[in-house]
Amino acid sequence: MRGSRLPAGGENVLQTIRGKRAAAEASGIKLIDLSIGEPKGPALLSAREAAAVAVMSEDEAMHTYQYNASPGVPNFAQRFVQVHVKRDFQEGDVDYLTMPGIKPMLGLVPLACGCADQNLSVATTTSPGYPIPADWCGYHPYATNYAISLSPGNEFRFTPDQIEEGTGLVMMNYPHNPSGQVATESWLRQICEYCSENDIRLFNDAAYIILSHGPDSLCLADVAPDYPDLSWLEAFTAAKLIGNGTGWHVGAMVGSPDFVGDFKEVKGKTDTGFVAPMAAGVVAAFEGDRESIDLVREMYRSRLGLLAKILTDRGMHLALDPAAGFFTLWLAPDRAFGQKVESAEHFNFMMIEETGMVGVHFPPYVRYAVCADVAAMSDEIGAAFDKAQVGYD
Ligand SMILES: Cc1ncc(COP(=O)(O)O)c(C=O)c1O
Repeated sequence: MRGSRLPAGGENVLQTIRGKRAAAEASGIKLIDLSIGEPKGPALLSAREAAAVAVMSEDEAMHTYQYNASPGVPNFAQRFVQVHVKRDFQEGDVDYLTMPGIKPMLGLVPLACGCADQNLSVATTTSPGYPIPADWCGYHPYATNYAISLSPGNEFRFTPDQIEEGTGLVMMNYPHNPSGQVATESWLRQICEYCSENDIRLFNDAAYIILSHGPDSLCLADVAPDYPDLSWLEAFTAAKLIGNGTGWHVGAMVGSPDFVGDFKEVKGKTDTGFVAPMAAGVVAAFEGDRESIDLVREMYRSRLGLLAKILTDRGMHLALDPAAGFFTLWLAPDRAFGQKVESAEHFNFMMIEETGMVGVHFPPYVRYAVCADVAAMSDEIGAAFDKAQVGYD
């Protein structure tokens, strides 16, 4: 018989918002869309030009499966990881692999920790957070996920005592989507020490590390090699590094050789690797066009400041001053449009219906991204929040 074989209501919040956005637009509402955090426009010119040349190459290595390596772009993973990581690694401390972006790899992380045939308890930074690690765990029958609670109370950085006994894997995301919190050295040391002592594998999704505002924001790889018993892995992507690289599907991982080895085994069976000419384009940007990468970062940073001012001037409360990325996270108000706000979702939907302003609700917060040109939209954003007349108890 035909019909869905999936449980009802299984969509995640990002899918819900895409649906809501389309319905609002179809009903004639003019949208002020600050919802999905995806860079706009093309990739950097330097990356596009180099990728175009690479596509025309006669070299077979440029056109073949790359698997976990990069025959078309020698040492891509080492070169790419070193763009983000401040320290040098000792021979044998780490291993590397290439990959086609982070999102499809997140489900392989629990598999690389044995969840295909044994129970695995996975802690994720998904409350609030990018839901994909939890979604993937939902698809693995032997993986059980719990979200570590993040809030202004812990400044969106969890403490070791929030990691439950029996946890086999922590999947964290710093810089954090949606709060913009970053991992500092002293915080990372606490987490590395705890995971090392308790034999917990530690994974970090560093998708936003290139958009860090200051030197305090570190990668897991800056600290983890100091813990010789720690089994760790970190993922980097070009999605936000070359302007709009979201469709390029180029990334790399670094980690302790044991974890990378397990990951390579699982990934080698299930994935054929990235597209080498696109990786060649990414190399041209990070090795020859740092200026443009820095300009993109500054653009988001200045938009974050502008949006934060427009909303705070109209009574909204920021959950945290973002230190990286292109998201602002707000506590949903208790009152808006002369009504009691029932939930963050209620607030987000009221804003969409009454003003066209679209965010993403991560209860009890609402996230607004600055991927669109906030300066050009500032009058409309201001007018939307003037109309909302928000208040907190
Ligand atoms: C936290 C986080 N990780 C990963 C990704 C996706 O990375 P990629 O484009 O490399 O698959 C995103 C994109 O929105 C994200 O927010």
